[in-house]
Amino acid sequence: MAGSFAKAQDTEKAKCSMSHTETSGFSPRSCGGLYMYKVAITYNLKKKNTSPELPVDYFSEFDSPKTVNAIKKALVSDGNEVVLVEANMQSLEFFIKNKVDMVFNIAEGVNGMSRESQVPAILDFIGIPYTGSDVLTLAIALDKAVTKKIFCHENIPTPGFQLFKSVDDKLSESLKFPLIVKPNCEGSAKGLSVTSVVRSPDKLYEEVKKAFTLYKQEVLVEEFIEGKELTVGILGNENPTLLPVIEVDFRNCKKSGEFFYSWRMKEFQGDASLHLVPEFFCPARLDEETERIVKDVALKAHRALGCFDLSRVDIRLSGDNIPYVLEVNPLPGLDPDESNLTIMTRAANISYNALINGILKNAQARYLLKLTGPFGQKGSGKIVTGQLSAH
Ligand SMILES: Nc1ncnc2c1ncn2[C@@H]1O[C@H](COP(=O)(O)OP(=O)(O)OP(=O)(O)O)[C@@H](O)[C@H]1O
Ligand SMILES: [Mg+2]
Repeated sequence: MAGSFAKAQDTEKAKCSMSHTETSGFSPRSCGGLYMYKVAITYNLKKKNTSPELPVDYFSEFDSPKTVNAIKKALVSDGNEVVLVEANMQSLEFFIKNKVDMVFNIAEGVNGMSRESQVPAILDFIGIPYTGSDVLTLAIALDKAVTKKIFCHENIPTPGFQLFKSVDDKLSESLKFPLIVKPNCEGSAKGLSVTSVVRSPDKLYEEVKKAFTLYKQEVLVEEFIEGKELTVGILGNENPTLLPVIEVDFRNCKKSGEFFYSWRMKEFQGDASLHLVPEFFCPARLDEETERIVKDVALKAHRALGCFDLSRVDIRLSGDNIPYVLEVNPLPGLDPDESNLTIMTRAANISYNALINGILKNAQARYLLKLTGPFGQKGSGKIVTGQLSAH
């Protein structure tokens, strides 16, 4: 599997350097006989949260300078010229005034329910190719309820749920406790703490009210699935690579009071003084058949949302072996040491440089093969069946 990702990069490198002149959106400059791409990395940096009015996890989705610099170093090492562009009010002007060939996008965006789509929307507007999923996929994936409706339509198992549009909504009788309460449009386990898992209507309404007040958005209530915590990384488009599955075991964390991948668990992961040292198994401890089922459902979810280039699919495997898909992360963390996706690539013997440059090359290949049109639309329904086509 890992081999096919590496091979795809080589093939795509060859394709890119041969046919760039025919393709709008690409104009790599000739530099001593070599083609150099000018790549902008778009990102939002974590800031110190000094406002008592903002939730403690307000900036958790954003990236560290360490991640941005690691991506830059990887791209430079492959011969690209790299500029850093923090995603903010000046981004549109920057891209109008400064020509770049390609954007490596990890920006989470700042405002609104579809914040992750903001940078891709700007880039589509101007006609600049970018890595990763497009505006629509990013908007859907950030909306957990819409994502789950698509899963239901596609027969992808997902926990039973109800979207609370107001604090006064009544709980559907079809949902069985324990339930978990989360803001509908967040990531990085924002809004998820031990009290988010509720076992009575009183506690449920308390948590729903808390989530509305703090996150100012609709609130998702979901059946809590006891079982294994799994996450599946996917790279590429034509013949996607399914990375070794990660299983996270929280048994060591009992003294912390945390028992799932809550915000505290993610934020303070590895802190032994807080007893927040979950055990990672990569590959996960699954028999062959279960591993196949888990990977199949992850790929189905990735394709159902129309992801490009990379994603990470979060799954809870129930005691009766049903892989319930919680969500798809089309912008998974890319910290070279700590992110789940980079743990998986290490397990697959894919170096960080190969991961980052592979993402770039897969995106370039998509644009060259017109799978993504110049205005960002999916060029052909064939992507969902994994068939790349030059037509
Ligand atoms: N229905 C559920 N059943 C069991 N555990 C759940 C459920 N929903 C969420 N969790 C737990 O909470 C964690 C975070 O949930 P989820 O993936 O929905 O949130 P997120 O904020 O989008 O996360 P991410 O950090 O991956 O972006 C899960 O990894 C899992 O441990
Ligand atoms: Mg998740």
